Amino acid sequence: MTVLTDTILAGDCRALMPAHGPFDMILADPPYGDTSLAWDRRVDGWLPLALAALKSSGSLWVFGSLRSFMATADQFAAADLKYAQEVIWEKQNGSSFHADRFKRVHELAAQFYRVDTPWSAVFNVVQTTPDATARAVRRKRRPPHTGHIDAGHYLSEDGGPRLMRSVIYARNCHGRAIHPTEKPSALLEILIRTSCPEGGLVGDWFAGSGAAGEACRLSGRRYLGCEIDADMAELARARIAAVLPFDGGAS
Ligand SMILES: C[S@@+](CC[C@H](N)C(=O)[O-])C[C@H]1O[C@@H](n2cnc3c(N)ncnc32)[C@H](O)[C@@H]1O
Repeated sequence: MTVLTDTILAGDCRALMPAHGPFDMILADPPYGDTSLAWDRRVDGWLPLALAALKSSGSLWVFGSLRSFMATADQFAAADLKYAQEVIWEKQNGSSFHADRFKRVHELAAQFYRVDTPWSAVFNVVQTTPDATARAVRRKRRPPHTGHIDAGHYLSEDGGPRLMRSVIYARNCHGRAIHPTEKPSALLEILIRTSCPEGGLVGDWFAGSGAAGEACRLSGRRYLGCEIDADMAELARARIAAVLPFDGGAS
């Protein structure tokens, strides 16, 4: 079979994506199912299919709300997926449906991997920011509340890079989005650099605007998305084609 890359399949990811694995990383931004809006319906049955299409060293990043993760927690467990970590995407404006609660200005993305793969065998590149000062990295001893958790392999240097924070601010695409729940490609690029090797294949099972495809083009990863709305898939394909591919540093 020809390996499709840098494009979006139009149709149901459960039917179309399994044949195109194995993926180094799967990204999934499914409808959260938190509202009564017609397009916001939870999709069942995709988790075991995604797991089967994932390399053993691969991981799955899933967007959602706490409400959607709590409602589907048993499905992750039943699919033999283990929680690794989560990041919070902080945005500049919110999408609250209630005037009597906090204004919601964030989304969650959680990473999962196979229960039968040790974390040390999962592809994982620690992301850093170049903004440390000697003061920011002064503490070399782990605090007592971390208990038995190993120190890990990241060593901070005075004045050097520091671990990226799990709360990541990125402006949303308000005003220029081609999809109502579009994620910023810069945010997706951070997750992709963490969990997919250069040249590896990212499967984006609920592709929407193809924002992850743009992130893959910019970071030198291969990409295959799937979107059930054929018109949106067409827009997303055009978006990805308009991005200059990463040339691996060749001049
Ligand atoms: C939350 S949006 C994804 C937004 C996307 N991450 C972006 O940045 O543009 C979810 C998308 O999944 C699509 N979708 C819903 N069910 C699907 C299915 N079974 N297979 C593929 N796509 C599906 C919806 O049409 C919608 O565009």
